Amino acid sequence: MTEVLTANEHGLARAAQLLRDGALVAFGTETVYGLGGDATNAAAVAAIFQAKGRPRFNPLIAHYPEADEALSHVVADDRAVRVARTFWPGPLTLVLPRRADCPVALLAGAGLDTLAVRVPGHPVALSLLRMAATPIAAPSANRSGAVSPTTARHVLDGLSGRIAAVLDSGACAVGVESTVLDLTGEQPVLLRPGGVALEALEALIGPVQRGLPPAVAGEGLKSPGLLASHYAPGLPVRLNAVSVDEDEALLAFGPPLPEARCQFQLSAAGNTAEAASRLFDGLRWLDAEGARVGARRIAVMPIPEFGLGLAIADRLRRAAAPRG
Ligand code: TXA
Ligand code: MG
Repeated sequence: MTEVLTANEHGLARAAQLLRDGALVAFGTETVYGLGGDATNAAAVAAIFQAKGRPRFNPLIAHYPEADEALSHVVADDRAVRVARTFWPGPLTLVLPRRADCPVALLAGAGLDTLAVRVPGHPVALSLLRMAATPIAAPSANRSGAVSPTTARHVLDGLSGRIAAVLDSGACAVGVESTVLDLTGEQPVLLRPGGVALEALEALIGPVQRGLPPAVAGEGLKSPGLLASHYAPGLPVRLNAVSVDEDEALLAFGPPLPEARCQFQLSAAGNTAEAASRLFDGLRWLDAEGARVGARRIAVMPIPEFGLGLAIADRLRRAAAPRG
């Protein structure tokens, strides 16, 4: 049985205790719910991979309550410190070289010599991290390949009975995962667009290389989570729809298409931040509601690729990718 904990003093204390004992606790952040486990405990980290059905080559993010602590486990240059000061706590993850004395289990980083670190911008998450008093490895709290959860209910839909507890802190405000920025090389590389807009990063540190460097066979994956089909709802997805077919449910952005018989509006005003906060809930809703009215596909209206639109477009492309 998965315990549902309220985000009060008692719930936080219970969640922190479970984490210290090596159990898995899902908790809300400003982006999405994370599936937390003690990052220094290899058995707890292994249990995260197990509960999600996640491939072991896909590394996890270590979460901290303070930037200083996060940066003490990695090799942080001036650039990393500047980015951390500006955007933490907040929806940004930094990939940096691991320090030799880093206590995070190697399995959490999938054996890589780098580590992804983040200080989330949510008061409940920060309290939990402080009380757990150990870095917490936390991928999104969904089964591997499925849509990320933005409420405790979503977490339970995928992981009930597979984790010790979920700490309910309400719906996530940002709604898409953190931006993942690789600062291991001279040129910063955007590994995953997310809650911090690329434009904001570039205003601070100059040009950021977009996307992955071309994969070289045998070299290993730079950010395996960026591959292939991901965030997949049950129904197939069609992108850039300017009209809707009879057998389609619609994910709308801006002025809706009147002919749709089942639709979820991301943002009537065409606001990408509002759309991001509603994206995963919309995909889940359309899956259920679309199936109920006999829809065979989800059609998605075009979304501009700036601000949080870049992260939305990325998630939708993956949702639409051929399923493997
Ligand atoms: O917003 C978020 O980042 C959420 C919340 C819970 O913090 N977490 C999250 O974790 O989205 P996850 O595991 O679903 O996605 C982490 C991404 C994956 O694409 C993974 O491949 C990449 O970060 N990543 C983690 N460690 C890495 C590393 N050392 N090098 C490159 N990419 C890494
Ligand atoms: Mg994920």
